[in-house]
Amino acid sequence: MSTNIQALLKLIKIPKYRTKATKDERTPRSSIINSFATIPESEWKNSNKYWADFAVGRGSIPLALINKLREYHSDEWIIDHLWVLDIDLEVLYSTRKFMERELGTSKLNIICADFLTWSPPKGMKFNVVMNGPWNITTTSTSNGTSGDVNAWKKFYDQGLKMLDMYFIMWGPKGGFLKMLRTQSNNEVIAIDLMTDEYYWDKNACVATIKNVKKITTDLNTVVTDKCPIIKCISIMEDNPNWTEINGNISVNNYKGPNSTRVITKLNSVKGKNKGPIEYGTINSKTQKLAPKGPKFVGTLQESVPSYLVTNDPVAAPFMGTYSTAKYGDDIENARKIQLFVKNNPLLKAIQKRLKTKGPTWTLRHIRDFDPSQLKDGTEIPKEWNLSPDEVSMLLNNTLDHSCVSIV
Ligand SMILES: C[S@@+](CC[C@H](N)C(=O)[O-])C[C@H]1O[C@@H](n2cnc3c(N)ncnc32)[C@H](O)[C@@H]1O
Repeated sequence: MSTNIQALLKLIKIPKYRTKATKDERTPRSSIINSFATIPESEWKNSNKYWADFAVGRGSIPLALINKLREYHSDEWIIDHLWVLDIDLEVLYSTRKFMERELGTSKLNIICADFLTWSPPKGMKFNVVMNGPWNITTTSTSNGTSGDVNAWKKFYDQGLKMLDMYFIMWGPKGGFLKMLRTQSNNEVIAIDLMTDEYYWDKNACVATIKNVKKITTDLNTVVTDKCPIIKCISIMEDNPNWTEINGNISVNNYKGPNSTRVITKLNSVKGKNKGPIEYGTINSKTQKLAPKGPKFVGTLQESVPSYLVTNDPVAAPFMGTYSTAKYGDDIENARKIQLFVKNNPLLKAIQKRLKTKGPTWTLRHIRDFDPSQLKDGTEIPKEWNLSPDEVSMLLNNTLDHSCVSIV
């Protein structure tokens, strides 16, 4: 008897754990396959292991897992050892359909649950392969994109609780990489910054974690991207001149101790920030800010009217600031960074590779350089040590096949 999904959906209230960002996202197949190669064959072969995707969505990951596990195991074994879960019954319905077709049975370990509160039966442990939702929300918003910016971290922590040995996870480059750098509990064995191919528009990376104490501290050594040019320009850690506020600011009329007068709103043509820049006071002990000194500021939405060169402290919502204070108290340097953001073709090329939203945000991921060498902003910083060939390769937007990781 077939299930009437429409009738079922009317009966069951689907939680609004959905945003534009998570709705119909499919993890790129080539990235899944590349990431599988970071787990040793002995693990894939091991018949005592269970494999799981706990935010399975439309099922790109279990499909690839089935193919991979078939190299070593029977379908009967896979039916028992592959577990998938999602909170959204609608997506799970289509995932169930294809898994049933693929494995020829309806007796599958497919669970509709909230992973963040779910516990596996009898303390089971899994090798986890998961594209964690990055920005889920339970409340609907006007543009549908706001939500919990730390969702991926909650999924990661929850995944660790039931982790057997290997954990492959896709996450946003910024926060995810920072967490991988600072945590000391698990060894990071591979990071793909996903710059070698234009296979996804997301500012994503994928990491493989091993459930043993961390010994590798320099994560640059485990980056699997093959393109050396990217490594010359982009960095794993944040650029030291960068400060960002990736959300709203809490207080902007604070009168108590540590009160600091700052720019609290940037000029912009979009949304709530419409209008000229505004000043307010914040508690500089508790609120993140870019302190006094020469700096370039822009919104992370890359709204050009928000671009600003200032000496004033700033704590504005969704801002990115690039301080040039390290290179002297000279506002000209900050103006040159603004020209760099507006005019530099290499910054635009890197932005495409990294899939960062715009040139301002890309400043976070680039290697530090002395801004005083810039004239009109089109120059290539000498600190990046790029040959003319390397520069033209990036500018021509072609990939040198010798440095493409896909096999
Ligand atoms: C990025 S998609 C996964 C895409 C999938 N890997 C694919 O390629 O088709 C994220 C999924 O996480 C699910 N999700 C969001 N919050 C969840 C939660 N609390 N528990 C379980 N699943 C959740 C969403 O319903 C969505 O299907």
